[in-house]
Amino acid sequence: MSFDHFEYKGVRFARGLHTEESIKQAENEFEVFDDDIYIVTYPKSGTNWMIEILNLIKEKGDFAKTNALPIYIRSPWYETVGSQEFIDKLEPPRIIASHLPHHVFAKSYFKSKAKIIYTMRNPRDVIVSLFHFASVLKIFTPTENFQNFIEDFIQGKALFGSWFDHVKGWMQMKDDERFFFITYEELIQDLRGGVIRICKFLGQELDDAQIDSVVEHSTFKSMKDNPMSNWTQLPSDVMDQSKGTFMRKGISGDWKNHFTVAQSEYFDKIYQEKMKDFNMSFFWEQSS
Ligand code: A3P
Repeated sequence: MSFDHFEYKGVRFARGLHTEESIKQAENEFEVFDDDIYIVTYPKSGTNWMIEILNLIKEKGDFAKTNALPIYIRSPWYETVGSQEFIDKLEPPRIIASHLPHHVFAKSYFKSKAKIIYTMRNPRDVIVSLFHFASVLKIFTPTENFQNFIEDFIQGKALFGSWFDHVKGWMQMKDDERFFFITYEELIQDLRGGVIRICKFLGQELDDAQIDSVVEHSTFKSMKDNPMSNWTQLPSDVMDQSKGTFMRKGISGDWKNHFTVAQSEYFDKIYQEKMKDFNMSFFWEQSS
């Protein structure tokens, strides 16, 4: 996985999206407000899905209000160069996205009452999603070599570093009342149930019709057909839409169409090793 990068605290960041200053600013100077809500993910784990869901919940299912801005402006990634301008325009409660690992996250968060929703996804499907995205997003040098791509991912050479470290780092907060975690796979299995759990965590009371609206507008099909959510408004020097789409397949288990048996066995072995001291079991561990 090749991209022009720099390292900060053992994590790879992409020049073109980040600078050393933007990351240090995000970590040390960014001001977190008590009523902020952060969507934190490792890339390709359902970040945009969660942005759509949370903004719809905030507006009690009012699609017209939610859909006034493109998704990446509605909830900017605060570590990205130039994001502050959009963050300054957000109405409270601000819903802000981030891919930062726990050890680089805004220091002011840890003294605040702000909430985090952390979404995780089967790392095998993250690899596949990222592999395709690497052909579309211009910061990456496209590669055909899936084996090397898996290896880079395992070695933490991906954008935002190691998936394993990201998940383990953030899950230190699993018992904190400001922290809620959910998996992409749970949302695939029961989107409505996920929305209801998220509303409960946020203390948001929506009636049945409002919840129906949140669900209706955050399905894969709705988002894929929605120019405000499907990233098609980005210029071709940022994303080459002729090479693929941001809203690609939106399923769980696509890794089975990409991994060979040998790659799958190899990844399972690494996964067991890296997660052996981690005292939690994930949805995909039963089904993969
Ligand atoms: P695929 O490439 O597997 O299709 P992120 O937003 O973190 O970059 O994640 C992108 C992945 O989430 C892509 O996965 C995309 O299709 C999927 N996705 C986005 N919105 C979705 C939705 N409403 N339902 C299911 N998957 C969704």
